[in-house]
Amino acid sequence: MAEGPDMISLTPGNQEQEWISANWPAATEPPSNSNPVKHQVWLVFGATGVIGRQICRMALSQGDMVMACSRNVKSVVRVPERWQERLQIQSCDVRSRQMVKESVDRTLQRWNRIDVVVACASAGVVGACEEQDEHEVRAQFETNVMGLFHVVQTTVPFLRLRGNGRYVVLSSLTGMVGTPGLGPFSGTKWAVEGLVESLAYEVAGQGCRATLVYPGTFDSDEASRSPPWRHFVIKPMTADYSGTPAEYGRRLILWLNPTRPTNVNRIGAILWELAHCRNPPLRLALGSDAVATMRDKLRHAVEEVEDWKFLYGTMDED
Ligand SMILES: NC(=O)c1ccc[n+]([C@@H]2O[C@H](COP(=O)([O-])OP(=O)(O)OC[C@H]3O[C@@H](n4cnc5c(N)ncnc54)[C@H](OP(=O)(O)O)[C@@H]3O)[C@@H](O)[C@H]2O)c1
Repeated sequence: MAEGPDMISLTPGNQEQEWISANWPAATEPPSNSNPVKHQVWLVFGATGVIGRQICRMALSQGDMVMACSRNVKSVVRVPERWQERLQIQSCDVRSRQMVKESVDRTLQRWNRIDVVVACASAGVVGACEEQDEHEVRAQFETNVMGLFHVVQTTVPFLRLRGNGRYVVLSSLTGMVGTPGLGPFSGTKWAVEGLVESLAYEVAGQGCRATLVYPGTFDSDEASRSPPWRHFVIKPMTADYSGTPAEYGRRLILWLNPTRPTNVNRIGAILWELAHCRNPPLRLALGSDAVATMRDKLRHAVEEVEDWKFLYGTMDED
């Protein structure tokens, strides 16, 4: 197939992807004989990113229908012919509520339903809180928080009325752990936490479920045209912050490049299975480093509360 402006890069490996069972706990009611796989309609924002592409590939390879949305849909290359009729590409900047709504409308016009909404669009700036200007901070919140808000508000009426639907929202370990050098980005991910957890409680009674996903650091795919640090802009560090904890964020992002313990193909496969679980978890850490980081953070928080609880008694006496 010739290259053109309306195709999305799903390389490498346009072959049918193997379905790798993640051994889900029975309580999640994963795809099985008693919960047979049904073909789903996926609406994916940030579809040209590393994780977004893997999710699109996995869904298409399993016979599902995919509306793939990103700003630069020209960064698209080849899709096997057998997948084309189940894939639609949509130019969408999540900061524009109107563009998000158009993506939703087109999905409904084409397939008459939406089963799974995936939020992968993300923007980040590396630099100490003091070093980032207002424009940079606002840009991160506009994409990561308001963008997600647009996605949720324009889709939830349809999922709710059908009494079925899944949200798969890519969070980050920085959404659990404040991260020097990534303060505003971390702030956006903490906002995502609050928004999605609240949403999950609001719509659970109507058959809709939401999962926050925390990938550990993972390998990139060969097709990625973006720099290893992907959606992050790395600001030059000022002398005031050189040698301080703010350098941590920079080291973390630069460390994303080489092969990492978590395999991005596997992330795509697991998230596809997640969308077929009847009882998906609210939070899902992917990768041993993600599990360890979340566990340490939560342990530390519990220990800190325990260490200081004696003060509450003093306050109660007033
Ligand atoms: N990579 C990691 O190691 C890692 C770890 C933890 C969490 N995560 C999270 O996982 C998610 C995906 O990460 P990734 O590494 O796959 O990202 P990525 O490769 O950098 O891709 C980011 C995606 O967001 C899209 N995007 C950016 N701004 C947008 C906007 N205003 N409107 C619509 N789309 C926009 C980009 O496409 P266009 O530029 O074409 O719009 C691209 O498709 C993010 O939420 C990230 O924080 C990633």
